[in-house]
Amino acid sequence: MTLSATGVSIRFGGLVALNNVAVSVSPGEILGLVGPNGAGKTTLFNCLTGVSKPQAGKVQLEGRDISRLSLADRVRLGIGRTFQTPRLDLGSSVADAVMLGFNPRLRQSIVSACLPFSKARRTEDDLSSRARQLIAEFQLTADPDSSAGELSLGHLRLLEVARALASEPRYLLLDEPAAGIDDVDRDLLADAIRNAAARGLGVLLVEHNVGFVAELSHRMVALVSGEVVAEGKPAYVVADPQVVAAYLGVHHVAA
Ligand SMILES: Nc1ncnc2c1ncn2[C@@H]1O[C@H](COP(=O)(O)OP(=O)(O)OP(=O)(O)O)[C@@H](O)[C@H]1O
Ligand SMILES: [Mg+2]
Repeated sequence: MTLSATGVSIRFGGLVALNNVAVSVSPGEILGLVGPNGAGKTTLFNCLTGVSKPQAGKVQLEGRDISRLSLADRVRLGIGRTFQTPRLDLGSSVADAVMLGFNPRLRQSIVSACLPFSKARRTEDDLSSRARQLIAEFQLTADPDSSAGELSLGHLRLLEVARALASEPRYLLLDEPAAGIDDVDRDLLADAIRNAAARGLGVLLVEHNVGFVAELSHRMVALVSGEVVAEGKPAYVVADPQVVAAYLGVHHVAA
């Protein structure tokens, strides 16, 4: 019962971005993935979510090989993610932006001609109220119909997490969700991550803020130059000499 990558290797031209990497995250677990710029964190993310296809190794979801499945199919199977740079239509309302995240299966059923109009209408109302619930939980805005473009960067990042949660994933993958956000938003984010794990979601958290990751994670993995150099309890990983050496001189590590 895990989302896992085993023996994953990927090259971009001559550059080995990941070399024989293995990670796995279990339901209810928060796994922190750290490493300096260019270590391969986002690339590993992309391999797990289907954006990139590794040249070697496989990705499995609860025992099923999903290496060949598309991003959309993986979302349908329960893998939700955010992007390092928020990908949002800033012209849409906050409510619509969150609703975009609803599980494609559910959205398909709404547009399906099989549903009588009244039932489709009710389902849409349910989705809208669930979106509003997420917006309130993340304290995104007092007015869900206001434009997403009016939100701060911190709130846009939280909006991305809310949208990923709207798809009711079993695994939630977050790529630097705390980058550039203030302490209040960071606390909201930490609560959301803890709550998600407490509800049984497996969370993979990529962050440069090692302190933030170490505090939240049950387990950590450190990547350096595309290879796993340390893995285990946060206190053990942050003290690992290779991890310390890799971060020396990287000024935003303690941000
Ligand atoms: N599509 C691509 N084409 C060529 N090189 C790439 C591509 N994607 C990633 N890389 C390279 O692979 C390496 C790993 O990049 P990746 O983005 O996974 O690192 P990261 O750990 O997420 O870094 P950061 O902390 O800066 O986000 C880097 O050297 C990067 O330049
Ligand atoms: Mg990255």
